[in-house]
Amino acid sequence: MRRLVIGLFVVAGVACGPPMRNTPVEEIPKLTKLPEVMDNQSTVMDPLFKKMDQSAFNDDEWAAITAASTRVQATSLKIKDFSKGPEFDALAVKLNQQATVLGNAYASKDVNAARQALADMKATCKECHKKFR
Ligand code: HEC
Repeated sequence: MRRLVIGLFVVAGVACGPPMRNTPVEEIPKLTKLPEVMDNQSTVMDPLFKKMDQSAFNDDEWAAITAASTRVQATSLKIKDFSKGPEFDALAVKLNQQATVLGNAYASKDVNAARQALADMKATCKECHKKFR
């Protein structure tokens, strides 16, 4: 039953962009495939990338920001298990640092810092995809 539910979830996700995946953060170190790690990232980051030009964030959006920071700090560490060399690893570290900056922006509710961190993270996703995907 659980498998069926997960299967339906994945199929539904494929219809509209990358599959939604919300692995519990403490289980991210146990993932065995890079696309699963990536899907966990896009699930939390894509909705925020769409909002990063806003001049303010409401409570729900701030909650999504701190959740994304925590999740991407875990996924970016995990990315290195699928290393494609030093340059690849450096981009994973960069994403990890940017996710921490995003968390700090949440802590101080600094809208401009959050927007900047989101823009920087998006650039890192793109840079790595251009070079290694
Ligand atoms: C260090 C390099 C690197 C970084 C940083 C990175 N990616 Fe990826 N990403 C990859 C690679 C390599 C693949 C292809 C994986 C494969 O198909 O085996 C990929 C694939 C993907 C996929 C497709 C997964 C699938 O189901 O096939 C998504 C979605 C994705 N990345 C989202 C993101 C997002 C969002 C970010 C930034 C928050 C990000 N990635 C940052 C390297 C990276």
